[in-house]
Amino acid sequence: MYNGTVTLSSYLTVIFSASFLGARIAAAYGRADQAARLDVMTVDGVWPAVQGIAYGGDYSPEQWPRETWHEDVALMREAGVSMVSIGIFSWALLETSEGVFDFDWLDDLIELLHDNGIAVDLGTPTASPPAWFFAKHPDARPVSRDGVPMGFGARGMASPSSPEYREASVRIAGRLAERYGGHPAVVMWHVHNEYGQPVGEDYSAHAVLAFRQWLEARYGTIAELNRVWGTAFWGQRYSDWHEVSVPAAALSVVNPAQRLDFARFTDHQLRQCYIAERDAIRAHAAQPITTNFMANSSWVTDLWAWGREVDIVSDDHYLWAADPEGEIGLAIAADLSRSVAGGKPWILMEHSTSAVNWQPRNVAKRPGEMARNSLSHLGRGADAILFFQWRASRSGAEKFHSAMIPHAGTQSRVWREVVELGATLGRLAEVRGSRVQADVAILWDFESFWAQDLEWRPSVDVSHAERIRAFYEQCWRAGITIDFALPGHDLSRYSLVIVPAQYLLTTADAANLAHYVEHGGTLLVSFFSAIVDEFDTVHEGGYLAPLRDALGVTVEEFLPLRENATASVAFDGSTLAADVWQEHLALAGAEVMGTYLDGPGAGMPAITRNRHGDGVGWYVSTRLDAAGLTRVMAAVYADAGITAADLPAGLEVVRRRGETHDYVTVINHGDTVASVPVSGFDLVGQSEVTRGTPLAAGAVAIVRTTT
Ligand code: GLA
Repeated sequence: MYNGTVTLSSYLTVIFSASFLGARIAAAYGRADQAARLDVMTVDGVWPAVQGIAYGGDYSPEQWPRETWHEDVALMREAGVSMVSIGIFSWALLETSEGVFDFDWLDDLIELLHDNGIAVDLGTPTASPPAWFFAKHPDARPVSRDGVPMGFGARGMASPSSPEYREASVRIAGRLAERYGGHPAVVMWHVHNEYGQPVGEDYSAHAVLAFRQWLEARYGTIAELNRVWGTAFWGQRYSDWHEVSVPAAALSVVNPAQRLDFARFTDHQLRQCYIAERDAIRAHAAQPITTNFMANSSWVTDLWAWGREVDIVSDDHYLWAADPEGEIGLAIAADLSRSVAGGKPWILMEHSTSAVNWQPRNVAKRPGEMARNSLSHLGRGADAILFFQWRASRSGAEKFHSAMIPHAGTQSRVWREVVELGATLGRLAEVRGSRVQADVAILWDFESFWAQDLEWRPSVDVSHAERIRAFYEQCWRAGITIDFALPGHDLSRYSLVIVPAQYLLTTADAANLAHYVEHGGTLLVSFFSAIVDEFDTVHEGGYLAPLRDALGVTVEEFLPLRENATASVAFDGSTLAADVWQEHLALAGAEVMGTYLDGPGAGMPAITRNRHGDGVGWYVSTRLDAAGLTRVMAAVYADAGITAADLPAGLEVVRRRGETHDYVTVINHGDTVASVPVSGFDLVGQSEVTRGTPLAAGAVAIVRTTT
């Protein structure tokens, strides 16, 4: 499995096992071309065997008569579609009753796609078990935190802890792989759909048993469980494992360490479901295996851990219509996808051609917006641009969701733009495989978020997601590309590491951050960081104590502000605006760079800077507004040796580095003409550009450059 670095031996292992398995499958199917094909079915060890930038989407022909299938493939060819994902919700059609399979329609479909040169990303349908499954195993239904078993009629998997679900899902995945693992059209496997949505935490009887086993394996003795959960508080001591349960709804706040472990357990159970299906497929098939993530929109799964289990990262992204700058949220998701892929190219598995149907107000994309979205993902490392879905569904819950073929048919703006995008991607084939490199990292730690998001925290206004966005926006506007990272990662390649919210920081990870600073790094830490350890227990020595050496400061007391209260900070000759939060800092060697002018912290240090070894640690103890943060960031960039670009509002710039050329994506999200900041050949417009060439409002250039 891909684990973030590709060594020669892992590459050879993949190639070797692919060819070995290829020979086996060829023998089993008696198809002479199989073995040779399997040798080349992945590129760089992981990439599906599709030419250029893959283009397409989820395809559900089971919702349509056969005549439509033929029209579909003809239109796919017209649009330049090269890969479709099929079978994702087809369990009830493939296994019509327990152990009774009907693959005929899927055989025909795959042959039809293959005959038309369209590659298949074959789904396992386990996100939607059939009615017969739940009728036979009613106890496999997931149960909500307040004890309600979930009904049938929507979609969503069964309890991830149900042994019957595990068995049934492995069986259907294995049968599909057995039948299609050797089919030349199948280039990738798409396990399940969006683990964690809609079933995240499950409080069923199966979950209770599995949670106990998971805890016992993790902690060994009940005494250790009592210690790490701090059960001396509120008299929660357990004397035997059978007394331990899931943190179901209770009269008051449930032990936060128990809830944090339940979040870890939930992630683990979902991942085990994925791994079981993946391994069942791998027994018969050599193609890369993935499952579609929801970076920056779901917090249930720890994508760092999942990234190690997939052959190639794939992500679904939908704009949040209420966000006037959705392109920034999109960029965060894309950069997180690339980061959990260890910097390797990844697949945009789903996005929308226009409006979705599940937000309060589903805003249609404006002309050109779909292409801007797609090319922003591509600029940030995606080598496949896929949509949900090919043809809009006439029935069911998603009939108002946009598609590549809308209800209006091909006489429509959306279809024309779909065809145009296919042609554009065709001109971008050479970009494939090039890599984005970032000098700045922002920490992103799901465990810390799980812990911070529990109840009874010092202020409801403190949000890790909000601070990530605030720091990310600063960098986006300055044309600075970001990687996301964990606090325990090797951070030495970054000039600057930003810690927007790291409520939970283990002592070992704090030592890693201190080591980074000591060896010349610049660290910028925001308030409410390094508060608790991995058991949600406050650090000995108090808040921020594990970063005391790196930052030269600790926190004596939190000073949250009342709702809507504002405060100000004197910094470098100007007054910066802040709100939500102040702290009473205890200096331990840091230089005071900013001071509170008012509020409960009036007169106290607000922003500090500390030399530690060869590096610098900055600490910002309040929530500055964007203008204030820009001022502080300028000083931090200077310490880190980073140059912020002077870009007009709304101009997105990001670079991919190839072996012989770089590819600079320039997107004008603004309403006025901007200019291209580099010289070279624009692959989108097919023309030479020089620094300063005008770029119309809404336009995109992807410039091949040697500079
Ligand atoms: C998710 C699912 C798809 C579809 C889209 C709609 O991403 O994976 O099946 O429901 O949302 O936006």
